[in-house]
Amino acid sequence: MFDIKKICMIYDMEKEEKMYALKGFDLKLPDKGLIGIIGPSGSGKSTLMYCISTLKKPTEGSIVYNGRELCECSNAQREQLRRSEFGFVFQKHYLVPYMGAVDNVMVAANGKDKELRKRAEDILKELGIGEREFNKKPAKLSGGQCQRVAIARAVINDPKVIFADEPTASLDHENAYNVMKILKEHSKDRLVLVVTHDKSILKDADSVIEMWDGEISVNGEAE
Ligand SMILES: Nc1ncnc2c1ncn2[C@@H]1O[C@H](COP(=O)(O)OP(=O)(O)O)[C@@H](O)[C@H]1O
Ligand SMILES: [Mg+2]
Repeated sequence: MFDIKKICMIYDMEKEEKMYALKGFDLKLPDKGLIGIIGPSGSGKSTLMYCISTLKKPTEGSIVYNGRELCECSNAQREQLRRSEFGFVFQKHYLVPYMGAVDNVMVAANGKDKELRKRAEDILKELGIGEREFNKKPAKLSGGQCQRVAIARAVINDPKVIFADEPTASLDHENAYNVMKILKEHSKDRLVLVVTHDKSILKDADSVIEMWDGEISVNGEAE
């Protein structure tokens, strides 16, 4: 699904000493499965994920997604691709504080009809958010519940890829486990890419990419 070649990222191009956040490696990603990207803080995990998901443009290199060169697409085309085919989960849930759970899921929905609202409610129920929570604002939900609402928002448009950057970092162990279980479930028919510095959450990953200092140090099966 993704064919990445010689991907290179330099922040602060105008600085004399160039700092490579990504040092020019190749990477192929399949169209389904749970893939982990692990590595210490500063190793380039988020930069890689944001380049692949079109949130950032690499300094050099090529990212081909289903035959399309993403680095040559316009910003509008990249935004359209994110809207229609990608879903995002971040460490912070970024829910809208004055909206209830269902409305927060609908924010991302491509449409507003009743059927879609029903779908949002069904997804929330599947994630263990019951009717009692449907109209609750984020401040009235627990951290784990907020992250599950954020996951519902990421899947409402039935994306082909879910990008999750440290999705469990602000959760306790049990909630982290539940979030990973949900992401694993969704990876049966789409690609789910999870960035983390915590190896323990990747025990059910189909494969794990290890990063070190802007490069891939290991690319293989999960242990
Ligand atoms: N917006 C930015 N401007 C300048 N440098 C950045 C920026 N974002 C990340 N970096 C640098 O790029 C390197 C990789 O960062 P990042 O991709 O966030 O790593 P990770 O997600 O593995 O912690 C780090 O040295 C970081 O300081
Ligand atoms: Mg990061």
